[in-house]
Amino acid sequence: MRAVVARGYGGPGVLETVTVPLPEPGPGQVRVHVEAATVNPVDLVTRSGALVEAGLMAEREQTGIGWDVAGVVDRAGAGVTAFVPGQRVIGLRDLLDVSLGAYAEYAVLDAAAVAPAPPDVPAEAAATLPLNGLTALQALDLLGLVAGDTVLVTGAAGAVGGFAVELAVRRGLRVVAQAGSADEEFVRGLGAEWVVGRAVADLASEVRRLVPGGTDGALDTAGLGIRALAAVRTRGSYATVAGGTAPLPLRGIRVHQQWISADGPALAELAALGLTLRVAETLPLEHAAEAHKRLAAGGIRGRLVLVP
Ligand SMILES: NC(=O)c1ccc[n+]([C@@H]2O[C@H](COP(=O)([O-])OP(=O)(O)OC[C@H]3O[C@@H](n4cnc5c(N)ncnc54)[C@H](OP(=O)(O)O)[C@@H]3O)[C@@H](O)[C@H]2O)c1
Repeated sequence: MRAVVARGYGGPGVLETVTVPLPEPGPGQVRVHVEAATVNPVDLVTRSGALVEAGLMAEREQTGIGWDVAGVVDRAGAGVTAFVPGQRVIGLRDLLDVSLGAYAEYAVLDAAAVAPAPPDVPAEAAATLPLNGLTALQALDLLGLVAGDTVLVTGAAGAVGGFAVELAVRRGLRVVAQAGSADEEFVRGLGAEWVVGRAVADLASEVRRLVPGGTDGALDTAGLGIRALAAVRTRGSYATVAGGTAPLPLRGIRVHQQWISADGPALAELAALGLTLRVAETLPLEHAAEAHKRLAAGGIRGRLVLVP
């Protein structure tokens, strides 16, 4: 099969299309014929070597890239009863230290990380859900907010941010979305009650003007750190999904650094919700390097999706 891997580390040029033997699913795993694989920020830092430099993964000659998969189960490993060949699925390969990822014609995933695909949704759109939908869901859970509470979502027009706004609204939370003016209509359409512009000099003052005393929580997908924490009320809660150092838990605010954990049953629930799935563009698998360049340049709305 064909796969795109990183040979060494560096710019998008280290991505290569290679031909490799079809991977076999082990016990508890399924092999998925990939119809769509999403390009995410984690793919860029895996390829560049930033994760190796940070000591978060071992250096290897060939690194598999890509986490999000949508496709059709092709083979089920021993002990797998929940999925059968021919079934349309989505799933998450939340693995870093591997020689093959989701950028491939076939991907092997733990059955526990797989869910039935959302009905009546093209694979390209379905593939945008696993990583960023689960991240938004798990970060919201960490915040521990209840219906009627207020929450600031930074980077609200981004992939995690958009899902976070939509999921928060479904939980009865009142959302302050931080987004650029061009994205205001979009985030309001997701249900944000207030929108704070990206360009404001003092985010916390602006949020506190709208929500006196500050919001009950903040989900910081843009990695603004203390700037977002400062918008939270005393003894509220804050969660960041961006890498790097989390802000200090000033004023008794509970600070969480969320990291994705594949969860098939939770993904199945997400898939049934009919969330807004955004595809910026689909590209052939071999154009992975171009997709990496474009994601790195910023300003993409919706995900770039590779189609093997
Ligand atoms: N912890 C985890 O498990 C986990 C899982 C998934 C993702 N992540 C991380 O979460 C972050 C967001 O991922 P994503 O896929 O949602 O990225 P994304 O789609 O690129 O969204 C990020 C959003 O934040 C905006 N933004 C960037 N800098 C900003 C700033 N200084 N102020 C306000 N907004 C800003 C971006 O706008 P522009 O595009 O206009 O710059 C974009 O709308 C990334 O750091 C990613 O690595 C973590």
